[in-house]
Amino acid sequence: MSGPPLPRPGRRRRYRGTHPRRFDERYKELDPERYPEEQAKVAARGDTPAGTHRPVLLSEVLAALRPAPGEVVLDCTVGRGGHARALAAAVGPAGVVLGLDRDREELDRTVSLLAGEGIGIRAHGTNFAGAGRVLAAEGLDGVDVLLADLGLSSMQIDRPERGFSFKSEGPLDMRMDRSKGKTASEWIASVPEEELRRVLGTHGEEPSAAEVARAIRARVLSGPPILTTRDLSGVVLRALGFDPRGFRQPDAFTRHPAARTFQAIRIAVNREDEALAQLLRDLPWLLRSGGRAGILCFHGGEEERVASAFAAGREAGLYASVGEPPIRPSPEECRSNPRARSARLCVAVRA
Ligand SMILES: C[S@@+](CC[C@H](N)C(=O)[O-])C[C@H]1O[C@@H](n2cnc3c(N)ncnc32)[C@H](O)[C@@H]1O
Repeated sequence: MSGPPLPRPGRRRRYRGTHPRRFDERYKELDPERYPEEQAKVAARGDTPAGTHRPVLLSEVLAALRPAPGEVVLDCTVGRGGHARALAAAVGPAGVVLGLDRDREELDRTVSLLAGEGIGIRAHGTNFAGAGRVLAAEGLDGVDVLLADLGLSSMQIDRPERGFSFKSEGPLDMRMDRSKGKTASEWIASVPEEELRRVLGTHGEEPSAAEVARAIRARVLSGPPILTTRDLSGVVLRALGFDPRGFRQPDAFTRHPAARTFQAIRIAVNREDEALAQLLRDLPWLLRSGGRAGILCFHGGEEERVASAFAAGREAGLYASVGEPPIRPSPEECRSNPRARSARLCVAVRA
């Protein structure tokens, strides 16, 4: 039989078992239509399914900040828009939501996502340390509600190419704004051991800060460069007495031994403490009289600094009240969303 040759069927892309190389193959829960049961399975394990995001302490944030129809809200950390969506619903069409995020890549995605749902926010790809300039540019004298949900969004963590996660291999970048500054790999290569030890202790609350700092510095001085997330977690695991080749995290509720180091280095690379200090200084002047501010902190150092700035502001008569102690997530929320476990909501009301 003759005739035109039949086109060859295209190769079907296959999921490559339990250790796939590509991000989109690794996380089956990213494709709920193809793997309908996967998200439920991941959540039941105590993990947050990759590609999904649950805003932390959402009902507590709404109850404490009381956004009302027609009010002006400043969400300093839009992330995936979880809180922004609820705040926008509360202030309604007569209100305004200003949304900041220094990660323009994620902010653009979120703005389109929200626009697709009919939610408009006034987005600014900027550091919240410059919130005062944003208000001036918007012609506003202050806001009624301000929220800052510190740290990383699950979207950033779930993208291996951003280099935030010890769970997947990626370049050791960790910059929230990839257009400027040193990557984590470059920072590690240049930081003196003593400073590294201080950073691990202060920002990571790492009890073995000295051992980890010594191991990282020894590798920088005499080993192959630390270029990937796996390179770094390998050095940390070895410093803490684990064998990186056989290491498996038992479950999502047990902290990975490298988690504190990753957190500390991320905070240093992004100078998160400087941004927070600036926000705390400006906060009373960003709020209108009676305005409510909520800051979601994820480690003891942050919580301490926010709580003491709020207490000092109350002493100075700038805040009428300060919520004490900070609000913690319920056991149910901790069970269903491990990322909420360390969250604390600090609240202050402008005098
Ligand atoms: C925990 S996530 C916010 C999640 C968000 N509330 C939600 O429900 O989707 C934190 C976000 O804040 C951003 N961020 C962190 N520090 C920032 C800063 N100094 N200025 C602006 N954005 C910042 C990060 O890029 C990240 O997207």
